[in-house]
Formats: sequence, structure tokens, C-alpha cells
Amino acid sequence: MTQVVQGQSIEPGRLFINNTFVEASSGRRFETISPSTGEVITDVAEGGAEDIDAAVSAARAALSGKWGSMSASRRGELLYRVAALIEERAERLSILETLDQGKPITESSKVDVPLAARIVRYFAGWADKLHGETLPVSGSYHTYTLREPVGVVGQIIPWNFPILIACWKLAPALAAGNTVVLKPAEQTPLTALELAKIFADAGFPPGVVNVVTGDGPGAGASLVRHRGVDKIAFTGSTPVGQEIMRVSADTLKRVSLELGGKSPHIIFGDADVTSAVFGVINGIFYNKGEVCAAGSRVFVQRSVHGAFMEQLVAATQKRAPGDPFNPKTRLGPQVSEAQRERILGYVASGKAQGAKLVCGGEAASVDGKGYYVQPTVFDEVDNGMTIAQEEIFGPVVSVIPFDDAEDVVRQANASIYGLAAGIWTRDIKLAHRTARAVQAGTVWVNCYNVFDPAGPFGGVKMSGFGRDLGRAALEDYTETKTVWVDLS
Ligand code: NAI
Ligand code: MG
Repeated sequence: MTQVVQGQSIEPGRLFINNTFVEASSGRRFETISPSTGEVITDVAEGGAEDIDAAVSAARAALSGKWGSMSASRRGELLYRVAALIEERAERLSILETLDQGKPITESSKVDVPLAARIVRYFAGWADKLHGETLPVSGSYHTYTLREPVGVVGQIIPWNFPILIACWKLAPALAAGNTVVLKPAEQTPLTALELAKIFADAGFPPGVVNVVTGDGPGAGASLVRHRGVDKIAFTGSTPVGQEIMRVSADTLKRVSLELGGKSPHIIFGDADVTSAVFGVINGIFYNKGEVCAAGSRVFVQRSVHGAFMEQLVAATQKRAPGDPFNPKTRLGPQVSEAQRERILGYVASGKAQGAKLVCGGEAASVDGKGYYVQPTVFDEVDNGMTIAQEEIFGPVVSVIPFDDAEDVVRQANASIYGLAAGIWTRDIKLAHRTARAVQAGTVWVNCYNVFDPAGPFGGVKMSGFGRDLGRAALEDYTETKTVWVDLS
């Protein structure tokens, strides 16, 4: 039944296979819930192994159809149309994203949706600029490389940036000529299905983009096991990334994994404290802390610790949780009740292990509803505590005071993760030395959480490998073929 929510008519979701919306072969459906009210928005088809098989067959057939012989510039044109359609439908997409995910409408309408369009446009431009090379080999040969698509790509994405991550996975894969089966997170399926419509309306041939909604053990795991899938690109938790890598070994699938983080944010004593506080607030409370690159471990040099804490607490108290549809709200509800419980469990562990709770730490609600958590600051945290070692994925920051500028790098690197890092200092040498020394895929100096389609993003250590965005992402979606032609 079509429902009208927040002024948008929303139909029950179906799977998108071969440019057609279909029910799951099992007939099963699941509900998607609005985290700001706890109410059901609609229900969505729950894809399983048979549906994944149908989607993979469609994607395989599309590789040798019209899409396989399409010129690179034409692929780019189709992607440009997708970018334009995202912009045309931006209002609806932003509302659906906020409804399903809980992120403030200001973020979805000013960041997620416009950035998604920019990313698609960036990769559209790459479609006809990706090429092989002629190689000066010994002997009488004409030797060159071709950059070919990997083939059928399975993309499994999380619930924190649903449309944004869908676009940053889909666009480079398609620019490089692959076909895709996308599995959105079960918590946030709505914008991926809107995107499916956009790809069909833009003129993508059937089978090039398929969207199978469902859960991890069902649709997700079936995609990873499937023999017809050449590569899995995954963003999500580290344990699931490890499982995907283990299962992919059976068919030697290519994998790229963008996993968790516990990113250090280092404030040196000479930093502009007011700017640093702004960066730290943005680094931990943006998207309610449901950000893989969240700056969740804040190392503050003792000489500025007092001034820093005073400003941090004042700024935190201004971030009151609010209705995500209010344009003034900067802190929405967590994505689900389960996620809120996880976060509160970490708060309890921080208290039990002796960290000093300075503000927040409790569940909250707006008009008696929603899965909110107060913005939370712990001070005097030890880097060995659970709250400093495990990804919390919520609005909880751990402040770790330090004295020695050399030792802070050792502490920053004392983590299984290596996704991002932030550095605040006015000393140019210290900034660059520290940027080299921290183990991370992205380092922000005197800024934080800045993203652009051109800037590669991904991790080292247990934050995974492979890169999203930038030229690096495209290369991860191609195979290099070397051709030797005897000229003698
Ligand atoms: P998750 O890793 O289970 O979910 C991410 C995606 O993987 C979803 O689409 C899910 O359906 C799929 N999935 C789950 N199990 C799978 C399997 N066995 N095979 C294939 N696909 C599978 O993450 P979850 O449980 O929703 O969140 C738990 C924690 O993970 C969060 O608290 C956070 O710490 C971390 N996380 C990190 C993200 C990141 O951006 N790096 C994103 C989401 C979660
Ligand atoms: Mg939901």
C-alpha cells in the first residue's frame, strides 16, 4: 500500500533486477523503520539466494550485451544523466534519507545528496579517460596494456551514508564498464531503490545495475558465495569484512574492504584551540557519530587541555538531540534501537574502566520518541580502555591528554585500525612529520571530515584495503591485460 510520509508517497519496496521491480522469489518482506519515531515507514522485499542468482545472471548477460560494446564516452553520458536526475530529485531523496536513516535533513540535503551527484559526475568524466599504455619491451614486439572491467561486481554497503556510499561504489564500477549487483543495508533500503529508478530513467540497459534488498546472512552472504561474481566491494564492520575475505577465497574473488576505524585526532599545544574544537565536534558528532572516519580518540596536549575541555564541553552542550526534520537540528537519532544499545553499552564500559564522564552518556528522546543518545564526552581516557580501542559508532568522544609530542604518535598508532587521522598545529614541520608517521589512509591537517570525489578514501591495517573515490577507485574496478604482438 502506498503511504504518504513527510509529504512523499512511498510504495512498498521491491527488488530491481534487469530493470524491472520484482518481488522476492520467497515472497518474504521486511519492515524499514524510522529511527526518529520507531514507526514502520514501509516494507521491502527480502531477497535471498535465488534472487541474487537472478540478479547475477542479469548482470552477467549485460556484460556481453549492449553495455559490453557501448563506447566509453556513451557510458559517461549515461552517468552524467544520473547525476542530473539525482539533483532533480534531490528534495525527495534527502527526505527519504532522513526518514530511513535519522540523519538531520540539513546534512542529507546539503551534503549527502549533492555530494552523491558530484561523485557520479566526477566518475562520468573518467569513463573515456581510462586507458592502457604502450610498453617499451625488449625484442621486436608491439606490447600494450588494456584496462578491462573486472566483470560482475557485488557491492555491499552500510546504513550510515546510504545514497552517498551507493553512488561512490556504483559510479566508478560503471565508468570502468562493469555491471553491478548492489545490496543495501537492511536498515536503510529506500534511497537505493530510488537510485535504481534513476538508473533506469537515465537509460542504462537492463542488467547493468541491479539492487537486491535483504539482510546480511541472506542476500549479502549469497552474493559473496556466488560463482558468477568477480569482485566484492564492501563497506561495513571489520568482522563482516573478515568473513567476506574468508568466503571469497573459495572463488578467488577480488575484494576491496572499507571497514571500521578508531581515528586519532591530535591537538598539539600550539594549535588554534577554537578551530580545533570545531574540528573535533564535527569529527565526532557529524551524522551522530555514525561515520567510519569519526575522530573518536582525541589526543590533547596538556598545555592546552584546560582551555580545550572548556570549549569542547560548551560546544557539546549546544548539540542537543532534535527532530531530524527540523532544519536547525544538528544531532539526529541513531539508526536503530540496536545501535543505540550498543553505544550505551560502551558508555557503561567507559565508566566501569575509570574514564571521567564529563557530559552526556544517557539515552534521549524527542517528543517521547526516537533512538537518541546525548552527545557524550569522556576525559582522562587511557588509550588501552575499551572505549579507546573499539569502534563505538555513536556520538561519544574519548579525550586522552598527552605530554610528549613523540609519544603521541606511538599511542595514535596503538590501534588495530588505520582509517583516518587529524592533526592540529601551527608548526608546519610537526604537521608534515606527524602526517607521515600516523598509520592511516587519510590525514586531515587543521581540518577534519573533508571529502571530495577526487580524494581517494580507504584504510590500512584492519580498516581494510582498496580505495573509494578518486582515480584509485577506478583502477580497483579494472584488470590489466597485456597484449604482445610479434613484429619480426
Ligand atoms: P555490518 O557490517 O553487519 O553491515 C554492513 C553491511 O554488510 C550490511 O549491508 C549487511 O547486510 C551486510 N552483511 C552483514 N553480514 C554479512 C555477511 N555475512 N555477508 C555479506 N554481507 C553481510 O554492520 P552492522 O552490524 O550494521 O553494524 C555494526 C557495527 O559495524 C557498527 O556499530 C560499526 O561499528 C560498524 N560499521 C562500520 C561501518 C563503516 O562505514 N566502516 C558501516 C556500518 C557499520
Ligand atoms: Mg530504517
